[in-house]
Amino acid sequence: MNKLLPGILVAVAIGAVAGSIIIGAGIIDAGADTPHGPLIHQALAFARERSIARRIADLKEPEDFTEPERIRRGAGNYAAMCVNCHLAPEMEDSEIRQGMYPAPPNLAARPDLTQARNAVRDFWIIKHGIKSTGMPAWSKGGMEDAVIWDLAAFLQRLSHLSKDDYDLLVTASDGHSHGGLAGDEHGHDEQATDHGTPEPAPAVNSANDVQKEQNHDPDHDAHEHDDHEH
Ligand code: HEC
Repeated sequence: MNKLLPGILVAVAIGAVAGSIIIGAGIIDAGADTPHGPLIHQALAFARERSIARRIADLKEPEDFTEPERIRRGAGNYAAMCVNCHLAPEMEDSEIRQGMYPAPPNLAARPDLTQARNAVRDFWIIKHGIKSTGMPAWSKGGMEDAVIWDLAAFLQRLSHLSKDDYDLLVTASDGHSHGGLAGDEHGHDEQATDHGTPEPAPAVNSANDVQKEQNHDPDHDAHEHDDHEH
């Protein structure tokens, strides 16, 4: 073992120098239009899942997590804030999603997610975001935990919804209302100013309508949504 040690140290040193040269020379392509190699991709996914698993170990969903009201409220916020990146039933793709790397997963087509751990994981991701991916930390914009649990509850239903069910839920929701649970004030100025008609959220193919509305709304910057900066 002692005989091997110098060789191992030299190999590590050569690797570190080679890595620095590759990075320093700008050889790694930072563009979002070229994917990572499979090894880097797997390493990043592994690191992400380990990091999240560690951080959600003691997290539990609230006792009233399965209350249907959560799904209703979550639907409106999803249609207003997430659909552009994460799509909705029968929505094939969006302009922003096509250009993103990593591509935001189509949350309307995820495999069955009724496990509680999935909801806790979704909650954590929505609250904290994921570094260097474009997934925002919604808590930084002021979204409260209760509203994030609504979204997590809605996400458990989403992949079971038909387009009509989805549109109905969005229509029945409070629209873009993530400062306010039932009875609270709506928390966002832009709801009154930018979206024009605060509630209910658009009914007919709401996913696509909201997407168009947001894409053509350059002043909608109160949340610093990445997707509004054209
Ligand atoms: C600007 C685009 C963008 C917006 C807007 C966005 N996300 Fe994401 N989201 C992403 C990306 C990209 C990922 C994947 C990150 C990765 O691969 O590590 C992601 C991942 C997720 C995941 C993890 C999915 C999985 O199964 O691994 C959840 C849950 C999620 N987002 C929920 C939301 C919710 C809820 C909203 C709205 C409040 C939202 N996102 C808004 C880009 C976005």
